[in-house]
Amino acid sequence: MSIRVLTGITTSGTPHLGNWAGAIRPAINASTQPGTDAFYFMADYHALIKCDDPARVARSRLEIAATWLAGGLDPERVTFYRQSDIPEIPELCWILTCVTAKGLMNRAHAYKASVDQNTAKGVEPDDGITMGLFSYPILMAADILMFNANKVPVGRDQIQHLEMARDIAQRFNHLYGREFFVLPEVAIEESVATLPGLDGRKMSKSYNNTIPLFEGDAKSLRAAIMRIVTDSRQPGEPKDPDNSHLFTIYRAFSTEDEAASFRAELESGMGWGDAKEALYQRLERDIAPMRERYQALMAHPERIEDILQAGGEKARKLATPFMAELRDAVGLRRHTAAPAPSKSSNKKSGKTARFVSFRDEDGQFRFRLVGADGQELLRSRGFADPKAAGAFVQRLQSGSDGDCLQADGLQIKAVLDGETIAEGPVARDEAERDALLQQTRVALGLPNGG
Ligand code: TRP
Repeated sequence: MSIRVLTGITTSGTPHLGNWAGAIRPAINASTQPGTDAFYFMADYHALIKCDDPARVARSRLEIAATWLAGGLDPERVTFYRQSDIPEIPELCWILTCVTAKGLMNRAHAYKASVDQNTAKGVEPDDGITMGLFSYPILMAADILMFNANKVPVGRDQIQHLEMARDIAQRFNHLYGREFFVLPEVAIEESVATLPGLDGRKMSKSYNNTIPLFEGDAKSLRAAIMRIVTDSRQPGEPKDPDNSHLFTIYRAFSTEDEAASFRAELESGMGWGDAKEALYQRLERDIAPMRERYQALMAHPERIEDILQAGGEKARKLATPFMAELRDAVGLRRHTAAPAPSKSSNKKSGKTARFVSFRDEDGQFRFRLVGADGQELLRSRGFADPKAAGAFVQRLQSGSDGDCLQADGLQIKAVLDGETIAEGPVARDEAERDALLQQTRVALGLPNGG
């Protein structure tokens, strides 16, 4: 059974050390674990919420894609794509918008923070707030639910968005009567570093305190490191590594042993200048080979484009059929010839048997036939492709194959094209089996079915 892991990065800036150590590096490592089916994407629709500079959005989505690849992500192994290449995502976003309570969005931290700032400034509460910002969590829910992700690794600031995605998924499942969406779980890696920036606050483009990962060359990395704020202790005075941003950054890149000896040197009075030099040397050792790959990729954007196009296609292989199912579920259906009146006798009571499709824990698609009384009559084998499962449901539903039910021992089976597609529960005896067979005939509207 494989676990689907999904995460995205908003493409509104240049990747920095914090993005690398806190998100990209652990995600690449996770993608190499057996049993992990990773979906990583550039959240470029999300970028439009924060940034109305087209050149910056265009550049950032290229830089972030190049960073993943330079860092060793294998696009053959994972599904690596741009959000905006999957038209089903905004389509799903709208459908989810229609089931999302406005009150839920009113409670979003990011939105509330903007309102609080406006109130503090004495302007209208919603001043400068777009519907994009307000609805941000619904788009994020669509990203996640589109691919039925099990685990979503994110920073702590995103926990509420994951809770909202679960709420929205549950609401949709409830309204439309079955488990269309898996409820995603947030994954917060305790061991993953939140890097401090130049000034000691969390490294973030919104604080303007970042150390770029690849931008420029080795010299620019060194120059940025030299700007990290330290205390005023002189060379020869012992330093406190646990209160040094420099040490925190070092540790995020080094082995335990390297960190221990760096700690010892700081404690025995290494000067800040030398410490910065040591940090630079350590980072450059990891970054230099990646920077080389990064620059080679950035010199050929068309190669990145090809990889992303292929990734988009791979993602849409899942998104397109799933979206078709969702459109059908909400009633956005193709008009077909009116169905022949059903022969099924329980029509009168208003309750009918129905097919329920679902995705099993092993990731396979299955369906069940549930009788008017809620009893399970048939359960299908697993299908890798939801469309294949759907095609069999349609054949059973339409009766186009005639009576395909057989008794086999104490079970009944539905056989199509010579293959057992679904089986009933094991009966206690032959009489019960025959009753089940009869009930299943009724449920499928088959002749002599009552
Ligand atoms: N909101 C996330 C952030 O700013 C980025 C993001 C968008 C995301 N869609 C997502 C993360 C889906 C995980 C899953 O960090």
